Amino acid sequence: MTLPPQPVSARHPLIDRDARVLWHPATHFSDLDALPPIPIDRAEGAWLVTPDQRRYLDAIASWWTSVHGHCHPAIVDAVSRQVAALDHVMFAGFTHEPAVALAEALLERAPAGFGKVFFSDCGSASIEVALKLSFQARQQRNEPKRTRFAALHNSYHGETLGALAVCGHDAYRSLFSPLLMDVLYLPSPGLEHHDHRDLAAQAGADEDATRLAIAQLEAHADELTAVILEPLVQCAGRMTMTGSGYYRAIAHAAQRLGIHVIADEIAVGFGRTGKLFASDWAGVSPDLLCLSKGLSGGVLPLACTLIRAGFEEDFAGSPSRSFLHSHTFTGNPVACRAGLASLALFDDPATFAQIDQLVENLERWRHVVAESAPIRAHRQAGTIVAFDVDTTRLRAIPGDRLGFALRKAALERHVLLRPLHDTVYWMPPLCLKPDELERLAHVTIEIIREVSA
Ligand SMILES: Cc1ncc(COP(=O)(O)O)c(C=O)c1O
Repeated sequence: MTLPPQPVSARHPLIDRDARVLWHPATHFSDLDALPPIPIDRAEGAWLVTPDQRRYLDAIASWWTSVHGHCHPAIVDAVSRQVAALDHVMFAGFTHEPAVALAEALLERAPAGFGKVFFSDCGSASIEVALKLSFQARQQRNEPKRTRFAALHNSYHGETLGALAVCGHDAYRSLFSPLLMDVLYLPSPGLEHHDHRDLAAQAGADEDATRLAIAQLEAHADELTAVILEPLVQCAGRMTMTGSGYYRAIAHAAQRLGIHVIADEIAVGFGRTGKLFASDWAGVSPDLLCLSKGLSGGVLPLACTLIRAGFEEDFAGSPSRSFLHSHTFTGNPVACRAGLASLALFDDPATFAQIDQLVENLERWRHVVAESAPIRAHRQAGTIVAFDVDTTRLRAIPGDRLGFALRKAALERHVLLRPLHDTVYWMPPLCLKPDELERLAHVTIEIIREVSA
């Protein structure tokens, strides 16, 4: 391996300044001593670099955002030129080339049938937009009984209250449940040993959970406005792979029953599963499609909701029927330029050749890890790889601290992993090189062995 040795460093002053004034997401104050935030002042490709030149391999693309790798020169250049010309303008009453061009480019490449794009600034906001559009359309098309949403058990759609309500994951929602709307939760298959090739084979179509979910949709069709789901992989839900066949079956059943399909591709869009959109594997054209994270190449906060052509007809007529939803930074030109530069990279056939190669390399190393460490199950969809640690072989680790212990062990080896309890996963930038993957695999083996007896 050609990777450089890491210098040892003293505690950086930024850590204490940070501790005095900041509240970090998904972080408990009591963990800050054992695992203080790591100062980063530079990033490049798959690497994050500290002020004292220590380098961390970003094996989860910084919460699944950095699809092409950090500071890709084409995106940096596009953003720099745009910010010097037009930094921002409010998007009500104004328009600009980057937003129009990005909307056109998305509609050209997305599954068939979309006609409009509604920009927002984070994944949760794009979900709120989809939920509200679906609900308001029903109210205005004389279907006032269709007020309820269906979602999947174990799903994650964000943490604003509407998005949280459709999360089928108790860890996020149970404390807030008195504040949340009543949602119908559907079962889905958890294909524990899912292989990348199962995406083309329409896995998950012929499962009890699939039949049960369709029966629930049929039983509740009159009250449902939409079903929301993460196609193929429930990422925050321990990288549970539900199958392209399941997605296709549920989407087709819902659309047959007049229920809108909201696809949340916030985590799985933009090449992650080996195609530009995860819906492409199932041949599904959802009614509403939510995108964020990789939309700007992971460089700036940007999100959008794609809307089926003709949906706007239910909003025509009196101004009181308009969609009253706005975010201050909607359609920010700099973020849209990043999105255009990122999409241009996906238009280069070399990018998908690189993704295909990465998928193959990940598969090879996935098997090496599974044979070398106590793993109960492992699976893959495109560039998403997950390992379930064999918890019968664990050393004593207090309470629910396994994910924390694994993360700490990986960071001590200069690799950023953020296991979800007993599931260690890889979701690297698409530019990950073979020697970087080899290092990632060895560190994964080491940390799982370290927590196992
Ligand atoms: C599938 C999915 N939906 C929605 C969200 C929420 O996005 P954001 O954190 O940008 O609000 C996430 C974030 O991880 C996600 O993975």
